[in-house]
Amino acid sequence: MEKGKLLYEGKAKKVYATGEPDLYWTEFKDDATAFNGKKKGTIQDKGYYNNQISAILFQWLEERGIENHFVKLLSDREMLVKALKIIPVEVIARNIAAGSLAKRLGLEEGTELSRPVLEFCYKSDELDDPMINDYHIAALDLATAEQMQGIKKQAWEINQLLTKRFKELGILLVDFKLEFGLHKGKVILGDEISPDTCRFWDAETKEKLDKDRFRRDMGGVEDAYQEIYRRLKGEGN
Ligand code: C5P
Repeated sequence: MEKGKLLYEGKAKKVYATGEPDLYWTEFKDDATAFNGKKKGTIQDKGYYNNQISAILFQWLEERGIENHFVKLLSDREMLVKALKIIPVEVIARNIAAGSLAKRLGLEEGTELSRPVLEFCYKSDELDDPMINDYHIAALDLATAEQMQGIKKQAWEINQLLTKRFKELGILLVDFKLEFGLHKGKVILGDEISPDTCRFWDAETKEKLDKDRFRRDMGGVEDAYQEIYRRLKGEGN
């Protein structure tokens, strides 16, 4: 397998062609951005941790029936994935009020929601990823009703599976973002699942173990990413 030409460079990852049309070579960067690129920095070894954490979670989900783009690890910071045509809808699942939801609805951060919430955002840097609903998705032809039905079903299932998995590790899965894409006509999970895209709180101390430490200048960012990786590898909490 060869690392071909650079197809796309995002804020956190680079995507390269491979010799195979159905496979991409992705490289996780240490670059960190927040507030849609308005805050920039570097988190040491973030690329390594996000690659490894995503690989563990994608593999674990695949074993539980959630098909996703992960194929195999290629190096510390690189993974081979199935080539997806990304659906430009970010799917956010929330179990506890935090971040933009807490702000928008005037809830204290940490308020338990009576039931989980799913939100959709239009993936657009220029527009700051505005929140949209099923009607907007249909009106803008971002996804078909059938595709959205499949996406919601998978998102609920992923939330249930991951919430339970992280609970066993002494971690609250507060909220997270997923992206889906089309591979050979089928909608499957893509992107990454990492402390960049999830809010993780220590179940006992409520300490933040995710990118909010960077967003809010709290320090201890690298340690937080390392801690999530350590617990997922089974090194206790
Ligand atoms: O900022 P907000 O509270 O809406 O974020 C909800 C969740 O989605 C957080 O876990 C955040 O890390 C994730 N997210 C993301 N990429 C975005 C927006 C949110 O990973 N563009």
